[in-house]
Amino acid sequence: MRRLLPISMLLTLIVINDAHAAEIPEAAQTCVACHGADGQGTPQAPKLAGLSSRYMNAQIEHFISGDRNNVIMTLMAQSLVDLNVRQQALDYYAAQGTTPTLQKRGDVLNQSGAEKLYYQGDLHRSLPACYSCHGPSAVGGEHFPRLAGQQSSYLKEQLIAWQKNERKGDPDNTMGHIAGKLKDTEIQALADYLSAIK
Ligand code: HEC
Ligand code: HEC
Repeated sequence: MRRLLPISMLLTLIVINDAHAAEIPEAAQTCVACHGADGQGTPQAPKLAGLSSRYMNAQIEHFISGDRNNVIMTLMAQSLVDLNVRQQALDYYAAQGTTPTLQKRGDVLNQSGAEKLYYQGDLHRSLPACYSCHGPSAVGGEHFPRLAGQQSSYLKEQLIAWQKNERKGDPDNTMGHIAGKLKDTEIQALADYLSAIK
């Protein structure tokens, strides 16, 4: 009986893995190569877990319209013109969210550097606190994307793309105005700070 235990555990694991593969809707199967089955991202592509369906849908539209430019993702977005297929793929990833620990503004009022910028902004530059839109612990919600745990290099590239006016489609260009006020060193510090929130 004792020797059988590991085998039965192994079988259970195989069954769980199979069940997991079967759960990935056909619509999302091409995405897995780059974004991962669990949406945690790979060196090829950012994390999608924890982003809302609504936010991701807007980004697919931005890739199609050319408001966002990325050769690979533009091609992928063009393959998602069927709205039912698109919805299935996005809902699959939106459901992969993780439960975060929520750090609120009051908890971090004495902070400095990137954390201070995130929770308090900078009044002198009319730079709003990222917190006011991206929320406690940077988990986002609805059309505000989750930033916590996202790849640092990806976050940095997006802020630079807004500075260069290469990423558009955000109503009122809110993020463009904000990114334009950030120094290079602050972009790096914010990207590192945000990616380290698990
Ligand atoms: C060959 C790799 C690859 C595949 C396959 C791929 N993506 Fe992407 N995806 C990327 C890259 C790279 C980016 C980042 C683009 C950028 O820097 O603007 C991205 C970005 C995204 C974003 C924006 C994320 C954000 O935080 O704004 C969404 C949404 C997305 N992909 C959805 C999908 C879906 C859905 C599929 C499957 C139908 C898919 N991707 C397949 C590489 C890929
Ligand atoms: C007034 C609201 C608001 C504030 C304040 C704000 N953001 Fe955003 N942010 C947004 C919205 C809305 C989007 C999605 C834009 C789009 O749809 O293209 C976004 C997107 C982003 C993205 C892209 C994420 C991705 O997955 O592609 C990054 C990075 C980002 N914000 C960082 C910041 C940082 C850092 C700050 C503070 C310095 C900040 N934001 C402050 C509203 C805000």
